[in-house]
Amino acid sequence: METLKKKARAVKFDKYGGIDVLHIDEVPVPIPEEDKVLVRVKAAGINPGEAAIRQGYMDKQWPAHFPSGQGSDFAGVIERVGDKVDKFKVGDEVIGFTDDRASQAEYVTVDANHIIRRPSHVSWEQAGALFVVGTTAYAAIRAVGLKKGETLVVSGAAGGVGSIVVQLARNLGARVIGLASKSNHEWITRHGGIPVTYGEGITERIKAAAGGTSSAAGGTAAALGANAAGSRIDAFIDTYGHGYVDIAVALGVKPERIDTIIDFEAAHKHHVKMEGNAEGGKASVLAELANLIDKGRLEIPIARIYNLNDVRDAYQELEKRHTHGKIVLVP
Ligand SMILES: NC(=O)c1ccc[n+]([C@@H]2O[C@H](COP(=O)([O-])OP(=O)(O)OC[C@H]3O[C@@H](n4cnc5c(N)ncnc54)[C@H](OP(=O)(O)O)[C@@H]3O)[C@@H](O)[C@H]2O)c1
Repeated sequence: METLKKKARAVKFDKYGGIDVLHIDEVPVPIPEEDKVLVRVKAAGINPGEAAIRQGYMDKQWPAHFPSGQGSDFAGVIERVGDKVDKFKVGDEVIGFTDDRASQAEYVTVDANHIIRRPSHVSWEQAGALFVVGTTAYAAIRAVGLKKGETLVVSGAAGGVGSIVVQLARNLGARVIGLASKSNHEWITRHGGIPVTYGEGITERIKAAAGGTSSAAGGTAAALGANAAGSRIDAFIDTYGHGYVDIAVALGVKPERIDTIIDFEAAHKHHVKMEGNAEGGKASVLAELANLIDKGRLEIPIARIYNLNDVRDAYQELEKRHTHGKIVLVP
């Protein structure tokens, strides 16, 4: 592979471990071949899955190869194009993804079919954070077959994936019960959802938010439009794990209308769906989501922006697991 004379910064790690293994390296910048483009990164989102891979928790499914780069999401400006690229040119502003764990860097080289044009009303930060969470939320909504007028429960409703699930579900005309801590209730309400605090007693609080249990309302479940478990929940999307699939089952939601993007053990146990980024991660879906942002029908809340050099601090914040929306790195 031919490279440019200059070198540029990229996030790397050379062994599994905590945030301390992350560092910034100066690496050669490749000249893109054939159908590839070289993008100067303006913003790159970070995701919990990357932390899990770096810590070695995913070694069996998705091992790291050292030295490893990091990151899938990015937005930036095309700096060079391969000689077979005809849909993009130098200077185009794009949103994209890489499957090479390489977006947290000053430059990333990707297939031209992994990028879309950045619509004018999508900020760099929202664009750079969109791919993983957006396409995952999109796939989860599709997996549970959500329809207008139905009631959906979302765990982690203010997080990266959850905040998009809430909005896509509302756009479909569904009722959304969003599980989140108090500090995020205002955001959920403002986006048309019904916030419910998680923790002890959550199942009853969800039932109450959905319109009362059959016993509380004094009628039979069927007569009140409730399911066999006495709740009026049609679908459940779990973005947090730790027991939410069990709660969904206890609420009487049919297994084919439950999707978890994280608790694969529970998914196997209860035969529920586990569709996420692998199912939704396409440029066409990315374009659909970017278009919604452009039209003001989808917002990616940006929790905080860090310089690329401060990648450790960024993951330290993310790993607390209370991010509202997205944390973004800018080179
Ligand atoms: N399968 C896939 O394709 C796929 C794709 C993307 C992500 N994922 C996985 O999905 C999960 C979510 O990703 P993300 O990017 O949305 O993460 P995130 O942004 O870090 O989500 C944080 C959210 O979790 C919530 N939370 C913390 N403790 C909770 C609890 N006890 N009960 C309910 N919610 C709680 C927080 O809510 P409060 O701040 O309100 O407490 C916060 O909004 C991660 O585990 C990630 O690895 C899977």
